[in-house]
Amino acid sequence: MTDQATDAEPEIPGKPTSASRTTLSHIMTHSDTNLLGTVHGGVIMKLVDDAAGAVAGRHSGGPAVTASMDEMAFLEPVRVGDLVHVKAQVNWTGRSSMEIGVRVMAERWNESAPATQVGSAYLVFAAVDADGKPRAVPPVLPETDRDRRRYQEAQIRRTHRLARRRAIRELREQRAAEGFLD
Ligand SMILES: CC(C)(COP(=O)(O)OP(=O)(O)OC[C@H]1O[C@@H](n2cnc3c(N)ncnc32)[C@H](O)[C@@H]1OP(=O)(O)O)[C@@H](O)C(=O)NCCC(=O)NCCS
Repeated sequence: MTDQATDAEPEIPGKPTSASRTTLSHIMTHSDTNLLGTVHGGVIMKLVDDAAGAVAGRHSGGPAVTASMDEMAFLEPVRVGDLVHVKAQVNWTGRSSMEIGVRVMAERWNESAPATQVGSAYLVFAAVDADGKPRAVPPVLPETDRDRRRYQEAQIRRTHRLARRRAIRELREQRAAEGFLD
């Protein structure tokens, strides 16, 4: 896994953040509820994955799959009759992966009060070719100060994800070498 395109690959022209930024909106109904009567977290997560997938496909110009979803935060309960807006954009790109940042907003479907933030998440998508193998993506070109902050924060998360995976793999290898069978 690398953070830069290799010399062997042709350079792909960059794409601005705004070219793939997407909002998916949905009115919550009774079929979306959990046993408490509020909207099921899994319903929100599917919308988040759908919106992020649309952004990843638009940015990479082809198929892209969810590699991971982390820091999914539910800040406020979502209710039947809420009009939910799932706003997604590319925060960062690597060679074949993209971090998509998602903000979930909710407003009453029949009132004109402003929407409030009810959730957020970060997803990593990998662009894949027809065989499901990772393919290179265009570098994202942040356009605003907010885009640039999100890019920098995404790099921090990327560094932590790689470090965590490496540390866990090394621990497992060490335990296996010590004879543990777990
Ligand atoms: C995601 C997938 C394509 C990665 O394939 P792979 O053979 O492990 O390829 P790599 O290790 O080169 O990873 C490709 C890129 O994804 C990133 N990546 C892979 N797994 C990751 C994870 N768990 N978290 C974050 N990033 C990840 C790598 O860092 C790499 O990024 P880079 O090219 O920008 O450096 C593969 O694991 C896959 O197809 N998974 C199933 C995806 C799917 O079906 N999603 C829907 C789930 S319901």
